[in-house]
Amino acid sequence: MPRVKKQAKNETKKRRKKLIPVQIVKGMKDILPPEQIIWNYILEKSSKLCGEFGFGKIETPILEHTELFHRGVGQITDLVEKEMFSFETQGGDMVSLRPEGTAGIVRAYIENGMSKWSQPIKLYYEGPMFRYEKPQTGRYRQHHQFGFEIFGDECPAIDAQVIYLAWKIFQKIGIKSTTVQINSIGCSECRPAYKKLLTDYYEMKINKLCIDCKRRLTDNPLRLLDCKEEKCMQVASSAPQIIDHLCDSCHDHFKNVLEFLDELEISYVLNSNLVRGLDYYTKTVFEVWEDGSEGAQSSLGGGGRYDDLVNILGGEDVPAIGFSFGIERVVARLLQSGFHLDQKIKKDIFLVQLGNMARKKILRLFDNLIDNNVSAGESLGRGSIKSQLRMANKFNSKLALIIGQKEALDDTVIIRDMESGMQEVVMMDKVVMEVKRRLKK
Ligand code: HAM
Repeated sequence: MPRVKKQAKNETKKRRKKLIPVQIVKGMKDILPPEQIIWNYILEKSSKLCGEFGFGKIETPILEHTELFHRGVGQITDLVEKEMFSFETQGGDMVSLRPEGTAGIVRAYIENGMSKWSQPIKLYYEGPMFRYEKPQTGRYRQHHQFGFEIFGDECPAIDAQVIYLAWKIFQKIGIKSTTVQINSIGCSECRPAYKKLLTDYYEMKINKLCIDCKRRLTDNPLRLLDCKEEKCMQVASSAPQIIDHLCDSCHDHFKNVLEFLDELEISYVLNSNLVRGLDYYTKTVFEVWEDGSEGAQSSLGGGGRYDDLVNILGGEDVPAIGFSFGIERVVARLLQSGFHLDQKIKKDIFLVQLGNMARKKILRLFDNLIDNNVSAGESLGRGSIKSQLRMANKFNSKLALIIGQKEALDDTVIIRDMESGMQEVVMMDKVVMEVKRRLKK
């Protein structure tokens, strides 16, 4: 090679070496095939149960107008103030990647005139949510939720049913040791007076509060109750409890919810500090926690009533309630507990080839088999018949279909019974029928 050309080649090589691989965006996570098996398992169990409870699936866009979350979730929430991925489109619209699913579903309920449909409307969903949070274990900037919402029924029995369904999903998935943490945060009638009481109490303790709580005192006093700072938790432990200050209607509603839960034998903990981080809630709020753990991270999922939200977003007065859980947290919890799915992929048939002509025949046969609902495995890149037969065993295949050079020329296939090792030659145009006959046995 001429010197100049060689030099140029070496330089290209050097330059290539220097390239730093593009990395994943901070706080995001790839979900690789082994984990997908658990994801599918969780989604299958949850969707099936929702179907049995009469829910239909809904999908809303990941991108919504930013205003939806300002009005829906609340402008003075951490979620909206600090955690949204928002940007202006080329057309000048301010949009955000959804940080949660409920607001978008309420928008869809209103926009699609669902209040005219026969109530209650029961919807379930799953998909990615985006929150610009500090990434840590169990907390990502893109996470996925499975959730469900019921519109048009204010009966406390519905609250109990939603809580029951949330609890039952975890049972079905195999997370048995959970506790429901529950509280009522009242309504627009009784909450203002309670907030005033709470503010008066906290103002007397202002020196003992963290910086965030000092701000919350004026911005969002309810959130003072669920601050995770040790010193603030101490102040919260003696704070007036909303449960003692509910109006008659909220009090009766909550009492009934608890009675229904007793009837369903759901174990719950009354947690007067549970207020949830989103502004739309009214009356019942709840979370499902793993037993023996405390703090937000251990909460697998949460939800509650939001009777004012449809109206706040421009719809009619429609009561609603819902719940969602973080799929990553459930996957992690299952993996931690050594949960094992039978991951062995089974293929009825394994296709074995020798040489290029045989490969061509195998490609066509593979297509023919899957069209006839026969699951087939192949290893087109492998050369030796022995190693391909080893793969057939790995896939638990009942039969191997072998095409060597002779068979390719004769338009025949060797059918090998993987258990007995018996082999028979059949014509290519008869092979699918013969395979189906043998698999039926
Ligand atoms: P949320 O409590 O904000 O409620 O989120 C629901 C669940 O999503 C949490 O319990 C947690 O498991 C998971 N999650 C939240 N943020 C993250 C994160 N950064 N990384 C990983 N997992 C996370 C809601 O979003 C409400 N929309 C629930 C609801 C439905 N209320 C009524 N209907």
